[in-house]
Amino acid sequence: MKAAEAKKKIEALTEELNHHNYLYYQEAKPEISDYEFDQKLKELEQLEREFPELKLSHSPTSRVGGDITKAFETITHKYPMLSLGNTYSKEELVDFDGRVKRGLGTEDYEYICELKFDGVAISLRYEHGILARGVTRGDGTKGDDITTNVKTIRSIPLKLRGADFPVSFEVRGEVFMPKKQFIELNEGVKKENEQREAEGKSPLTLYANARNTTSGTLKMQDSKIVADRKLDCYLYSYLDDANTFDTHEASLKFLEKAGFNVSQTYKNCSTIDEVFDYINYWDQERHKLEVETDGIVIKVNSIAQQSELGFTAKNPRWAISYKFKAESAITTLNDITYQVGRTGAITPVAELEPVLLAGTTVKRASLHNANEIERLEVRIGDSVNVEKGGEIIPKITSVNLESRPANAEKISYITECPECGTRLIRKEGEAQHYCPNIESCPPQVQGRIEHFISRNAMNIESLGPRTIAGFLNKGLINDLSDLYTLTFDDINNLQFEEIDELTGEATKRSIKEKSARNIIDSIEKSKAIPFERVLFGLGIRYVGKTVAEKLAQHFESIDRLMSASFDEIVGVHEIGERIAESVVDYFKNEESLAMIQRLKEAGLSFQIEQQEGAGDQLKGLTFVVSGVFETFGRDELKNLIKQHGGKVASSISSKTNYLVAGANMGPAKKEKADSLGITILDESSFRELLQND
Ligand code: IVH
Repeated sequence: MKAAEAKKKIEALTEELNHHNYLYYQEAKPEISDYEFDQKLKELEQLEREFPELKLSHSPTSRVGGDITKAFETITHKYPMLSLGNTYSKEELVDFDGRVKRGLGTEDYEYICELKFDGVAISLRYEHGILARGVTRGDGTKGDDITTNVKTIRSIPLKLRGADFPVSFEVRGEVFMPKKQFIELNEGVKKENEQREAEGKSPLTLYANARNTTSGTLKMQDSKIVADRKLDCYLYSYLDDANTFDTHEASLKFLEKAGFNVSQTYKNCSTIDEVFDYINYWDQERHKLEVETDGIVIKVNSIAQQSELGFTAKNPRWAISYKFKAESAITTLNDITYQVGRTGAITPVAELEPVLLAGTTVKRASLHNANEIERLEVRIGDSVNVEKGGEIIPKITSVNLESRPANAEKISYITECPECGTRLIRKEGEAQHYCPNIESCPPQVQGRIEHFISRNAMNIESLGPRTIAGFLNKGLINDLSDLYTLTFDDINNLQFEEIDELTGEATKRSIKEKSARNIIDSIEKSKAIPFERVLFGLGIRYVGKTVAEKLAQHFESIDRLMSASFDEIVGVHEIGERIAESVVDYFKNEESLAMIQRLKEAGLSFQIEQQEGAGDQLKGLTFVVSGVFETFGRDELKNLIKQHGGKVASSISSKTNYLVAGANMGPAKKEKADSLGITILDESSFRELLQND
């Protein structure tokens, strides 16, 4: 295609896609399917790759991210970004109204009330209708240029609609993560943590609240991640040199027409009583919105009157915010139950009389540990205050002592594990109680089995934490060696209940024939897993993947490792005393030995395989491994390369000889390999290469 033709096509596609984006995100009235949209977007991306100089700054391809910003440039705001004065009481609002009245010397004024969105302030500059820059608030005077990240927010127009707009202006608003999006993000972390827990890794902390997450997201260097987070933005202020609009309301109407996302929750109020009605209405209804709100903002509508009132050093005199009270509820503590974690840690849970809080029914709250119960001096039957501050799990913040019933029961913290009856221990200086029955306390057994079946250990993919819990509850297994005694008939059509830890609700589940078969097959397949991974899978404290590999290489079999002394183990390169002690302890335990015996009988590998044929046919060759493989684990593949004398590199360069590519490999990697003329191998060609002597 010639440049002139490409230019036309690029311009047309940019316009068309921006229009469809508007219809989809602003009007919620799409006119083409997602598929058609993606096809057109791909076409545009391809053209932009061929003719990078023709890419327009408002190209919809910037929505998907990909550009990396190493350091954000500091920008001085043309108009400082001030904050609002806060009030927490309606009396103070009456005072504010009095000041406005006196300041203007008239009663002839009106307010626009808006919700105070709990997100991150942003300032956007538009030049000739094109988004030129997006800057954070920073210290109010200077902020960071985060334009690349801002462009990924679909509801922020890259180009304004229509032709009737001021040549140059700024618009301000609040970037936020919709509640649904935030919940999904944390669901993802929880999923990942299940896997991490199974692998014996410490869990990742959940995102605490949507606001902080938004703030962190906007400052990310990789705009692709920002695009994936699906942020949104409400605009609520317009600024220019010419005072184009007479009222704030007129500027909001303009913003809406120009394609900005203006929340339809604003209202024109002529009296302070109408302002109170607005507050009362939204104090209830706000929980139904997709955005977190923490109050309302009251603004004098007339721009001339705003100028007349002016500013104090920090705040406008023509606006103020009213903060809603923290979302709390009063309910009764019915009972305390105790949860045993996968590591044996005990967490007390408050069982509450169900109560509506911030739009959801709350039945449980975390009490963290015994100290927290003491600090609150809470008793069963007490009336308690429960709060939800942006966080997901509510907290008991205080006890209403004056309404304590006569029969309120003092809490005596449990001394025995609720799961297995073992006496609990509490190490000096630690807040948490622990169940020391590592071997047979069910949640701890569950934790060990999850680790055993995880990808880097036995890789029994068809089993997950919920199925394991079902097997344990049904008494089908008691430890990990029992997995190898399971038969198809044991598990086919097995019915069990799954309990949600937070709500305590039970869901019925059953294993269908096909999954039963998969489970049995993948357990069988796991018998071929090499010794170092079996050793890792045993879950010996401090024996992570690399340590397991070192021990396996050095001792070559479990029998030799079992009979090794502390000194011998410490003698292994990079193995410290803590690890050695833990290994020695593990093999002193009769139950561990018996279990290993059962695993041996089941046919698992307990010695390193004589790597038959492992020669050095890959000597001098450098490989990059990318994607997901069907017949190899990624690490297994890397080990094979090393065992056969090859080198594994993490990124493609001119030194790379082969790229071993699995499914879902990033297109960038493929492109790079192609451009450097590197041979790409799939699984079967890789196998062939190994077999070539
Ligand atoms: S107007 C001169 N309107 O609250 C101040 N601000 O403390 C102009 N905010 O930094 C701000 N919702 O991040 C305004 N509807 C709204 C708002 C709002 C949230 C935030 C904004 C600002 C802070 C003011």
